[in-house]
Amino acid sequence: MVRYALMLVFPVLLVSIGVAGSESVSGREKPPELGPPLQAIQETEETARLLAILLDSGRYVINENQDLFDDPKKEQKGFSSEVFEQQLIEVFRSRSGIDLQELQSARLPRRTKEMLAVLVTVSKKVLAAAQPEINRKGVGFKGFIPAIFGLRVASRFTEITGVRLKQTALTPRNPMNAPDAFERSVLQEFADPSFPREKVISEVTAKSKSLRLMFPLYTTRQCLTCHGEPKGELDKTGHLREGLHLGQNAGAISVVIPIQR
Ligand code: HEC
Repeated sequence: MVRYALMLVFPVLLVSIGVAGSESVSGREKPPELGPPLQAIQETEETARLLAILLDSGRYVINENQDLFDDPKKEQKGFSSEVFEQQLIEVFRSRSGIDLQELQSARLPRRTKEMLAVLVTVSKKVLAAAQPEINRKGVGFKGFIPAIFGLRVASRFTEITGVRLKQTALTPRNPMNAPDAFERSVLQEFADPSFPREKVISEVTAKSKSLRLMFPLYTTRQCLTCHGEPKGELDKTGHLREGLHLGQNAGAISVVIPIQR
């Protein structure tokens, strides 16, 4: 009995001596490599998911207004960054349940709120900068499409926050959007028609202390004017149509975000 009790106590003592010893040598260092706490991972995943929904909501608003942008007869479209913002807020609210106008009082971690606010600001700036392009006189198709909006927003957002946002697909039109190994394997899962709609897939990469998340994208009727049938024929952007159908998976938004400890 006595021996048994000693065996239990002894390792505990050793551990506490070890911690005290290392503290006295190297100051208040955390114990080495326990991995990020579960709560930090969950918060980071939720932030990544909301950022993907917000970027896709912006893409959706651009897609819905494509005919307006490409009207050759109308010069001033009246599609200011404020008009865009109102539509963005509506779409994001219906998809996430979060009201961006009440962000301060929303029950979200501070970092999540800050990131969402930055993404809204960046999206509005891209819209403001695109005004001469959208309002160009006498031109029909102007090339301001969801993917181009998404590319501009993503690159500015990454510069500011260090969080990477990328639009990708299994057969990308733009080679810059080509998937890496992780993205490719998730895109293959998304392409399976039985995959649950809007379900995200994420993983924690131990080496880089980041979280990766993939958010699936689906076609609306508007997308099909370029990505739909007839497969192999040129669309108005000069790319080959993929022959996608309504509601089919069309790729993903890929997020790489550092896990905050
Ligand atoms: C006006 C034609 C047009 C419309 C409408 C359009 N796209 Fe695209 N899409 C393109 C072009 C062109 C690119 C490549 C852009 C570039 O050069 O980066 C692209 C790129 C993409 C990409 C990135 C991967 C790649 O192929 O490079 C995804 C994902 C995508 N589109 C999905 C969609 C979805 C979903 C919709 C509807 C919400 C949509 N697109 C609407 C023309 C269009």
